[in-house]
Amino acid sequence: MSSSSSSSSSMSFKNLSFFLFSLLLLTTSHSFPLNTTTTFPNPQETTPSGTGGGEWVRLHDSIGVSAMHMQLMYDNKVVIFDRTDFGLSNLSLPSGKCRYNDAVLKLDCSAHSLLYDVASNTFRPLMVLTNIWCSSGSVRPDGTLVQTGGYLAGDKKIRLFTPCSTTTDAAAEQCDWFELPQQLLVRRWYSSNHILPDGRLIVVGGRRQFNYEFFPKNSINGSLPELFNLPFLHNTTDRFEENNLYPFLHLLPDGNLFIFANRRSISFDYVNNRVVKEFPEIPGEKRNYPSTGSSVLLPLRGNSPAPEVMICGGAPAFGFYQAEKLSVYVAASKTCGRLKVTDPEPQWLMENMPMSRVMSDMILLPSGDVLIINGASNGTAGWEDAVGPVLNPVLYSPTQPDPSKRFTVLSPTTIPRMYHSAAILLPDGRILVGGSNPHVQYNFTAMPYPTELSLEAFLPPYMAKEYSNLRPSILTVEARDKVVSYGQGFAITFMVATYRLYQDFKVAVIAPPFATHSFGMNQRLIYLDIIGGAQKLSMFGYKVSVVAPVTQNIAPPGYYMLFVVHNGIPGECVWIQINN
Ligand SMILES: *[C@@H]1O[C@H](CO)[C@@H](O)[C@H](O)[C@H]1NC(C)=O
Ligand SMILES: *[C@@H]1O[C@H](CO)[C@@H](O)[C@H](O)[C@H]1NC(C)=O
Ligand SMILES: *[C@@H]1O[C@H](CO)[C@@H](O)[C@H](O)[C@H]1NC(C)=O
Ligand SMILES: *[C@@H]1O[C@H](CO)[C@@H](O)[C@H](O)[C@H]1NC(C)=O
Ligand SMILES: *[C@@H]1O[C@H](CO)[C@@H](O)[C@H](O)[C@H]1NC(C)=O
Ligand SMILES: *[C@@H]1O[C@H](CO)[C@@H](O)[C@H](O)[C@H]1NC(C)=O
Repeated sequence: MSSSSSSSSSMSFKNLSFFLFSLLLLTTSHSFPLNTTTTFPNPQETTPSGTGGGEWVRLHDSIGVSAMHMQLMYDNKVVIFDRTDFGLSNLSLPSGKCRYNDAVLKLDCSAHSLLYDVASNTFRPLMVLTNIWCSSGSVRPDGTLVQTGGYLAGDKKIRLFTPCSTTTDAAAEQCDWFELPQQLLVRRWYSSNHILPDGRLIVVGGRRQFNYEFFPKNSINGSLPELFNLPFLHNTTDRFEENNLYPFLHLLPDGNLFIFANRRSISFDYVNNRVVKEFPEIPGEKRNYPSTGSSVLLPLRGNSPAPEVMICGGAPAFGFYQAEKLSVYVAASKTCGRLKVTDPEPQWLMENMPMSRVMSDMILLPSGDVLIINGASNGTAGWEDAVGPVLNPVLYSPTQPDPSKRFTVLSPTTIPRMYHSAAILLPDGRILVGGSNPHVQYNFTAMPYPTELSLEAFLPPYMAKEYSNLRPSILTVEARDKVVSYGQGFAITFMVATYRLYQDFKVAVIAPPFATHSFGMNQRLIYLDIIGGAQKLSMFGYKVSVVAPVTQNIAPPGYYMLFVVHNGIPGECVWIQINN
């Protein structure tokens, strides 16, 4: 199977579409404004709050591995992995491959990682050599996943996963994890990563690590220190509970790094190791592991964005202590906070979710809404530390002016996704959901939260069949090899069956996150500036010109999913590369 196709069915549809489109091009072209004459219902408005919207599909009862970490690659395959040190998984390594280095089993011939192919809904085992438990990762500009840290033998490891060459089918089945000979400077367990404007990674924190480092190392002729202290992490550690692991990182358009830990946050100049600004404490609960909430940088608009951070969920102080020591599961946080980082005096704007949540993932949808999915209502992260799965995802519309209409409760799943679950956006707009294993070992009889090896897809309301007429289908991205440089104008052609276009017309680029422990590292959505109106090329064909992000601070170099979003309805993405 070619790794460049997004899906075999959509490829053939696209070829057919392109044929029809070419025929239609023979009709006269003319320009027309983006403004609407007729209004179609907004997808959220047709979904009364609390009565659902969205649909769940079971993709696999078992993929053999519990999906603790997930990363979508530009070839539409998802790297999934769990820890390695609990015993056998339910997926075998290819014959002849085994590992020897964990405590529970002397010889382990089962896989703890796999590669999931979105188009064919199939997967194959991958082999990790050392323990990658509770680690972090970023995709570097060339599309290679750089994964950092883990536990014991794996805690200083740096591992690469490069999408397979497409030259032969055999080669396409060969690619696997590769451990670099060089190591991290210190152990990294529960650290967070971010890709930087210059293409390096920054690795921040981890258990008992109040510092950060870079990959490749930040050493100019050996004259600079390579490990940098970050007292902010020391200052945000709670006794016994920590509550500042997996800190939330967001690269700001001014080039500084937003770091959030526990209830505090700073804008940080990582080059000069200097706190640029400290923000007010977020009201309410603790927000980081094990009081695990989640965070996104809300969609950036155009080339002069006003960055706004959003954080949802978490747990009160001593929630972890009570769960661990007393088996008392306190109610999780019900609040979300929004912070306009560049305001002269930024303040958290607090809102109530429809329900309490801990360990929920927050996902930026191409429509600009935020999906809050997975997690529990009581307790904290940690083994056996939570009860009350929250089965309903919630959609949050940041631009909805009426605060009482911002949250919509969507259709529930039937599968609890507790500690060690994950969720990510797929290239076709669906959400991939997997994992959940709140136990030390795989335990399929532990009730009510057995180890989950299943994989589901959640289809957000914008995927409903009633919107097919509005769904755009990208035909071409008019940039050589789909590579665009900073500030470059380029055109996109697409088809849409309903031949009127509406005000709500957007082109989004989304960086696919490394998702684990409810935080999507490097997740980023930028709406590109659109030049003029769309040009009608034919009965169903349109062309629109956009401008690529102007700086690496807005969009660090790398692969992005480009979505055309028409009246809130995205079609399937096309991958582009933003680079110099
Ligand atoms: C869209 O409509 C608004 C108000 O009706 C108008 O100000 C604007 O110029 C129109 N945009 C285009 C592209 O025609
Ligand atoms: C995993 O394998 C074990 C042992 O063969 C089996 O009992 C269990 O049902 C399997 N679990 C799943 C979810 O397939
Ligand atoms: C690093 O070493 C190279 C080669 O010796 C030299 O050209 C360069 O100026 C040095 N850079 C710094 C920052 O010292
Ligand atoms: C850490 O806490 C100490 C003592 O409260 C304070 O003096 C210092 O400024 C804090 N540093 C940071 C980076 O928050
Ligand atoms: C969650 O916490 C609330 C408030 O303490 C409590 O009323 C409720 O029973 C708890 N739920 C579970 C499932 O423990
Ligand atoms: C699995 O969970 C059950 C029920 O909680 C428990 O009795 C059993 O000991 C567990 N098995 C393992 C291997 O941990």
